[in-house]
Amino acid sequence: MERLEVKNLSFSFGVTQVLDEINFTLNKGHVLSIVGPSGGGKSTLLKLCANILNIEQGEINNSFKYYSFAFQDTRLLPWKNVIDNISLSLLAKNINKKEALLKAENIAIKMGLKQEDFDKFPKDLSGGMKQRVSFARALVINPKLLFLDEPFSALDIGLKKELQEYLINLVENENLSILFITHDLMEAVKLSDEILVLEPNPGRIIKSFKIDEQKSLRDTNFVYKTSAKLLNNKYIIDTFFKG
Ligand SMILES: Nc1ncnc2c1ncn2[C@@H]1O[C@H](COP(=O)(O)OP(=O)(O)OP(=O)(O)O)[C@@H](O)[C@H]1O
Ligand SMILES: [Mg+2]
Repeated sequence: MERLEVKNLSFSFGVTQVLDEINFTLNKGHVLSIVGPSGGGKSTLLKLCANILNIEQGEINNSFKYYSFAFQDTRLLPWKNVIDNISLSLLAKNINKKEALLKAENIAIKMGLKQEDFDKFPKDLSGGMKQRVSFARALVINPKLLFLDEPFSALDIGLKKELQEYLINLVENENLSILFITHDLMEAVKLSDEILVLEPNPGRIIKSFKIDEQKSLRDTNFVYKTSAKLLNNKYIIDTFFKG
């Protein structure tokens, strides 16, 4: 079965150690979230897993065939319009242009973008629109594993809910796997099978919470109650509210 396995992963930027002995496994069809304070090494960990940064110490085994990512800072190509940004990865896979554009347009609409936005360049998009383009770009190749770094942080609550539900549907019905980074504990509770708490300086996983409830059945009440419990947990308090 496909999975992502991280073993004894440590990483430094120069003399500053950012990650220390990280271990976890993400299985097919599961969502693993990483929460932790700003600057704790979450994006660095995701970039290492997605092969964007080179590993220094430890091991990452990724047996998923198709994976893609949506970055925290979107990284859209400024000289390409919305549809060309989304279709780029399809064209790189040698899919013919007409089909690539059609797929890009379909997914853009699903992400709540409008036809009139298709020709716009990133500089003319709002923060939330850029995030939707970035998310569409990640989804358009039909990945089996998604690396998501705060993908919904700039979205209004209605759109955020819609896209969360879109993801849950892909996970439950198409066995999509996600490594998810978020500051938002409620979002993590809504989407995850497991939540890892990353304590900073250097980044270490100090706690794992498993959530068994079926994702499509997690209503607002469940999310509030579970998040409240987590907010009272010693490890969460120590990591987020002290030091
Ligand atoms: N390219 C880089 N060169 C040097 N230091 C870096 C680089 N990228 C990140 N860092 C440092 O590594 C540490 C972890 O950064 P990272 O972006 O992984 O944190 P994060 O947990 O994603 O934070 P946030 O929640 O604010 O996004 C920070 O101290 C940051 O300054
Ligand atoms: Mg980050």
